[in-house]
Order: sequence, then structure tokens, then C-alpha cells
Amino acid sequence: MHSVWPTGMIKRMDRKQSHIDLALEQTFAAGFDDIQLPHWALPDFNFSAIDTRCQFLDFQLAAPVMIASMTGGTAESAMINRNLAEAAHECGIALGVGSQRISVEEKNDQGISKHLRKWAGNAPLFGNVGLANLIQWADRNCLNRLAEQIGANAMIIHLNPMQEIFQDNGDTDWQGSIACLYESIEHCELPVIVKEVGMGITPEVARICQQAGASAIDVAGSGGTSFIAIEGALTKDARKQEAAKIFADWGYSTVQLLQLLQKQPVELPIIASGGIRSGLDIAKCLALGASVTSIAGAILAAARHSTADCISVIEQLKYELAIACWGTGCKNIAELKRVLL
Ligand SMILES: Cc1cc2nc3c(=O)[nH]c(=O)nc-3n(C[C@H](O)[C@H](O)[C@H](O)COP(=O)(O)O)c2cc1C
Repeated sequence: MHSVWPTGMIKRMDRKQSHIDLALEQTFAAGFDDIQLPHWALPDFNFSAIDTRCQFLDFQLAAPVMIASMTGGTAESAMINRNLAEAAHECGIALGVGSQRISVEEKNDQGISKHLRKWAGNAPLFGNVGLANLIQWADRNCLNRLAEQIGANAMIIHLNPMQEIFQDNGDTDWQGSIACLYESIEHCELPVIVKEVGMGITPEVARICQQAGASAIDVAGSGGTSFIAIEGALTKDARKQEAAKIFADWGYSTVQLLQLLQKQPVELPIIASGGIRSGLDIAKCLALGASVTSIAGAILAAARHSTADCISVIEQLKYELAIACWGTGCKNIAELKRVLL
């Protein structure tokens, strides 16, 4: 029987599916165990008065956590994005979608269409595309069109050179990347967030992004999902398989990056992501200077299941964050941010 899909397209959709399966099997560490928040034995307020609300860019969030970019372009990812979008709306947090590349190259917008805005209600919604794709397409207006496609409030550009090198047919010609970053941000009508995918953005790269006009940086450090390990497991190339074992934990951890950024700060809000598993991890990121945090792996299993499961994951994180506030004697997020100073 003939398939309706060209072989390359099936492979790419299979790859997206395998990313989800393999991400769920990973266990790395992002350095949170090395950070201890100071215990405060004399809270002078009611636990129920703890306020986890915060502002990120122009967005009011019920808690300093957002759902990181993950999927789009497969039937399962449409279901996942619906669950995540409804949960983001219900819990008052922001949602980033997975790369919208597939909707440009293959006109496949499952899970990354206008429906998403309907499911997300008034939750802040962030579109996503790789810088490697922007370099190739050389289309100044691309970010605006991708934003329009889902009704986004901001756009995310992801930097993933170490994923591309291990990916079969990955994009390894990044010549012109800095100029492309400048041009893409300049022509985007919405705020642009620049993120990694789990290998981390160092202060030096953050500074380039700031100069290019980015509105925020997501450090996306190592210690959570490793796309080097994932691509290493998917490739048929023996050289890549072998090298991926060596590089699997490449990159500074999320905690290391936040500490480096404290020493060499940039004038941009910092999103901390990479390996966040609990509300205590979130509290530690905020105490280390992050404005908000972002989770992918920690909500993926729930997202595969139902909106209700995603809501429970977020509510549990919020509860643990409130306990971290209680234990440090902080009534709100602003106080928590000062606890290690
Ligand atoms: C299944 C899966 C797919 C992902 N796809 C994307 C993507 O399309 N674009 C992107 O910027 N990041 C993508 N990421 C990376 C995440 O946004 C995040 O930066 C990374 O997983 C680290 O967070 P974590 O440790 O909480 O998983 C993906 C992550 C997972 C688990």
C-alpha cells in the first residue's frame, strides 16, 4: 500500500514522537541539590496569605512557572498541546509551543493552529522556531507569520547547535547566525525570548542576545532533558551514537548558569529551565536570580494523559513553592528572590 506521506515527512514525524518517548526515560541532575535555602523559624504571617503571583514582561502570572516549548505537528502533539493549553489557562500560567518549523515546511499545523488560542483562553502563548531554520529560510517576516498562526503574545527563538550536530540531517551550517538573530528580532512585532534546548545559554551568549534586542533569555541548562542523548539514541550513524555517549551531559547545569549570570548579569529577565522537577527547585531558581521558571520534562507524562493531570502537576509545583516561601519566611515572590542575598 502507498503512503500518503513522503518518506522524509514520516521520518520527521516519527522523530518528534520518539523525542517524547525518549525524554520520558531520562534522569539527569541540574545541580539543585547543591543549593540550600535558609530556614526561617519565625514566620509572622498566615500560610494562606502567601502570594505566588508574579509579572514576566507584560504578563501577569499566577506563579513564576511556564510550560516550556515541546510539541507540534503530530496527532499526539495536538492532544498534548490542548491539554497543556487548557491547564495553562486554568492555572494562570504561560505556555510555549514546540517548534513551528513543521507548519512552514510541511504545512502541518496539528496542535499549532488557531485552535491553540481558543484552548489557552487568555493565558500568555509563546510561538517557537529554531534559529537554524530562520537562517535557512531568510524570511524577515517569518516570526510575525508564525505568531499570527497561533495567536501568540511573544515569540521564542531556540538555539540548538549541539542537537543539530547529533541529529541525522541536522542543520550544521550556522554561518550568519548572529546577523540572522539581530534581523529576526528587529522585524518581529512581538517580544522575542531566546532559549536553548538543554545545553544552556552562558552570560556571553546572553549578552549577544540582549544586544540583538531580545526581551528575555531562557537559560535552558543541562540536567534535565538531554537532546544529545535523545538524538544519539535515534541516529543510525555509529559515529554519532558513540560521540553522543561522551557528550550526553554537555553544557553548564541550570544552577551553574544562574550563578554565572549573578556574577556577569545581563539587563534582561531570566527564565530558568532545565531539570526543574519541584516547587523547591523553582524557589531555588528564583533565589538565584531567575524571574520565572519553565518546565518541559516534568509535565510531559501528564500532558500525554489529560488536562486534569497537567493541572495537578502545576498545582503541586505551586504548593511546594508556597512551602518553600513558608520555610524561608517569605510572603511573596519578591521576598523569595532576596533570600540568598
Ligand atoms: C519532547 C520535547 C520536545 C521539545 N521540543 C522543543 C522545541 O520544539 N523547541 C524548543 O525550543 N525546545 C524544545 N524542547 C526543549 C524544552 O523546551 C526545554 O528547553 C528542555 O526540555 C529542558 O527542560 P526540561 O529539563 O524541563 O525538560 C523539547 C523538550 C521535550 C521534552
